Amino acid sequence: MSETVLPTHSTAQEAAIVAALGKRSVVLVGMMGAGKSTIGRRLAMRLRLPFIDADNEIEAAAGMSIPDIFEVHGEPHFRDGEARVIARLLESGPILLATGGGAFMREDTRSRIRDKAISMWLKADADVILRRVKRRADRPLLQNADPAAVIARLIEARHPFYEQTDILIDSRDVPHDKIVDESVIALHEHLFRPRPASAIIEPTGDPLSPIL
Ligand code: S3P
Repeated sequence: MSETVLPTHSTAQEAAIVAALGKRSVVLVGMMGAGKSTIGRRLAMRLRLPFIDADNEIEAAAGMSIPDIFEVHGEPHFRDGEARVIARLLESGPILLATGGGAFMREDTRSRIRDKAISMWLKADADVILRRVKRRADRPLLQNADPAAVIARLIEARHPFYEQTDILIDSRDVPHDKIVDESVIALHEHLFRPRPASAIIEPTGDPLSPIL
């Protein structure tokens, strides 16, 4: 269920990104409240890619809300469904895919994302996350007496995995367009960065041999 987005202007840089992606998608990763849906929607518009929120897809596939899935079937069932939905969505690239905060913790999902997408971590501080998630009550993991402690624990457990993404974006409280601009630049840099010399010098097999 992708959202139809009205394209804004498209620069040569954005067109180059889309051409370089080919069938690969851009996958946003990060904690709840990091801005994956908000930034993802705007970034999709800039790149003229369909935006898909994995959480919405899971709810549509299950015919129930995420809090209900957690309550009725439990978190392991949700995680299996989440992995299946993401695997399916990655087959239909290029798309801009926002994933739920726990999705990247699974090895099978990480390896699919590595194969089929460029991954981008929207990294937000605990206080920013807490402020943002307080506005909504639809995150079952935070429906308890001490959401700040849960966020701290999740950050500690998840950041080492999020660090494995291709691109890091500092998601802070600045206008959304600024984060989107930075994301476009980072994507372009990632896709067009010069290859290291060691990857180019092949004849001797010795990366340190001088090129004359
Ligand atoms: C979760 C994050 C949520 C949703 C579910 C579990 C998590 O998505 O998938 O509530 O484990 O961090 P968002 O990151 O989009 O809030």
